[in-house]
Amino acid sequence: MSRIVYVNGEYLPEEEAKISVFDRGFIFADGIYEVSAVLGGKLVDCEAHLARLERSCGEINLPLPWSRTELVAIHEEMIKRNALDEGGVYLQVTRGAADRDFAFPKDIKPTLVLFTQARNYVNAPTVKTGIKVVTFPDLRWERRDIKSVGLLGQVLAKQYAAEQGANDAWLVEDGVVTEGASATAWIVKGKTLISRPLSNKVLPGITRKAVLAFLAETDFTFEERTFTLEEALDAEEAFITSATAFVMPVTSLDGHTIHNGAPGPTTLRLREIYVDFARKGGVLG
Ligand code: PDD
Repeated sequence: MSRIVYVNGEYLPEEEAKISVFDRGFIFADGIYEVSAVLGGKLVDCEAHLARLERSCGEINLPLPWSRTELVAIHEEMIKRNALDEGGVYLQVTRGAADRDFAFPKDIKPTLVLFTQARNYVNAPTVKTGIKVVTFPDLRWERRDIKSVGLLGQVLAKQYAAEQGANDAWLVEDGVVTEGASATAWIVKGKTLISRPLSNKVLPGITRKAVLAFLAETDFTFEERTFTLEEALDAEEAFITSATAFVMPVTSLDGHTIHNGAPGPTTLRLREIYVDFARKGGVLG
């Protein structure tokens, strides 16, 4: 069975789906995306992803003609048509297609695309081993809080990581870790979790928000501050959070072993709580 994708109101086999060569997502990366996880055929924390989508679109003056209810319904239809049990739904909205001109064209209609990816998130093999991370300079623009489809900085970082035999990259600017190439970066010292404050420098992670909400169920505390690469190399544990990694242990950073090369108890406890939360559709309480 061919994968069914969504393009501007139609559900089509992927071979039949078409986008204009003049689409501004293609020409200028003038678009926004979101990735929501699916577990047991159910969306995880989708409302929060859609709220961030609305915010990102607002920041680049891209009007979203679909209501949140309509977008949830399209996500659910995609899960059904692709019989997706576990994996992700990718959504991209661009300003639309028009002859190439930098400023926004008048009367342009946004392009909306969704596709699914079947993946094993809960039992990913890296949960047992942790991931190897290498650092890479943060080459991105100044509005990283907007989930823009312009991801060249991340692509180059992840390609570098792959070439080094690592699973992922952390981005570093002025000696400070900004975030993972596609995830929030965390370190652990004692019972304290450390991750940087939200700002234009990082994407406000939906998984980060969920993890912070669980802290009341644990004896961990949160210190919201930047941390240097040096401090990370010295951390007792390190991990990343994202819609696709959930809570994933980092056991090697730039070739330095973290927590003796095994996932640490704090990370694993947070992962356990997160998976439980995700199985319930990402509803707190
Ligand atoms: N990335 N920071 C960056 C740069 C990201 O790209 C992501 C997510 C995150 C974590 O956000 P969340 O917890 O809401 O997934 C942080 C997605 C998964 C991606 O690009 O595939």
